[in-house]
Amino acid sequence: MRKWLFLLMVLLLIGPGVLPRGFVSSAEACRSISLNLSAGRIQKPIPFHGNARALLVSSISTYKEKKSTSLSTASSLLDLLGGKQSALSVDPSLARKILSCLRFLVPPFQEAYYQSFHGFVQHTGESFFTEEDFLLWLFKSTSSKKSKTLESLVQWPPPAVADLARKAVEWNGDSSIILKSLTDESYRVPDVDGSNEHSCQLTKNIRGRRFIKEELNLYMAFLFETISALAPSLGFNITLNRFDLFHGHLFLASKTGRLGILFHAREYPAYNEKTFPIHLGYCQIGSSLCYDESMNLRNILWLAPMPDCSSKHCSEEKSWLASGSLVVLDAHPDGIIYNELIPDYVDDVRTIYEDDFGDAVVDINYFPSISDNLEKRLFIC
Ligand SMILES: *[C@@H]1O[C@H](CO)[C@@H](O)[C@H](O)[C@H]1NC(C)=O
Ligand SMILES: *[C@@H]1O[C@H](CO)[C@@H](O)[C@H](O)[C@H]1NC(C)=O
Repeated sequence: MRKWLFLLMVLLLIGPGVLPRGFVSSAEACRSISLNLSAGRIQKPIPFHGNARALLVSSISTYKEKKSTSLSTASSLLDLLGGKQSALSVDPSLARKILSCLRFLVPPFQEAYYQSFHGFVQHTGESFFTEEDFLLWLFKSTSSKKSKTLESLVQWPPPAVADLARKAVEWNGDSSIILKSLTDESYRVPDVDGSNEHSCQLTKNIRGRRFIKEELNLYMAFLFETISALAPSLGFNITLNRFDLFHGHLFLASKTGRLGILFHAREYPAYNEKTFPIHLGYCQIGSSLCYDESMNLRNILWLAPMPDCSSKHCSEEKSWLASGSLVVLDAHPDGIIYNELIPDYVDDVRTIYEDDFGDAVVDINYFPSISDNLEKRLFIC
């Protein structure tokens, strides 16, 4: 039962994501193609004259219109990953546009209906008797087999995660389900790689909580490590540090209550007069992260498996409409993601907002450099 945990430990030891701790070295910085900033959008001051009110009213109505488009696009995107029936409900031409922007780290399991599952072991058809056997298998196996194992764990997470996903849907996206699963106690977010020195506060609050169940905390760590380990398969690197990937926004999807996390990598690219003349505040100081084409890939969506709650016995009948999945939402400027999910005012930093997908509940922050203990790296705010 603890096999997956063990896998996480091994991933931490050998995974590429953990090796480059701390800062990105500036020597390797900015080799790749720089992005073109959209002209005239950077820090444009709000005009202050007689027309300001009219301008405000018109920009609010444009905002509302855009928000309803982004909500419906995000909802179709979730439908596409929510099992066969819900995928078929999406208009085919819209579906094609969305799918052309999805870059899967772990695709959903390719079957229409799922029977009960008891973790990844059954689904991969592998069974491990001792941790030793398991370790042997892992080191002997090819890297494609190793990533198969990561894949299974994303698609069919361990029981505590599956239970939380099920309850979230069963309770119709009631966020108290998540909040009740957190500790009462909170923990002070420490100095992360010199953040205090620059007056940088990385997290929403200065204290964070954790899940009560260890398995949930470890699974969160597993997700961060897996994103970093699998990103090279899409041709880019993600480093788990305070400039690149350290947080995700946990949400419960609007229509279904499905549990998901929208991760934001590339949070603080370095200020650069030519390529990135944008000030992002104290936390940007010290960054050597390049502003380049990989910014298009900074929004990463994890979806928990989607339980079938159509019958009365949602929590007893362990059937699932869709497996979990992990996907990069490619925001290149010609695609539907860029055009409909990225608000104009954050075009340049390519930010997708979690409230398009559902009710934002908490932020999950993960700082590998502060502790060797996986749980202690986690701050939920
Ligand atoms: C940036 O703009 C230049 C000149 O306008 C153009 O040649 C180039 O293809 C653009 N690069 C990208 C990545 O769009
Ligand atoms: C990613 O990191 C690896 C190892 O440090 C390096 O060899 C590779 O060139 C990097 N890839 C990109 C796209 O920067």
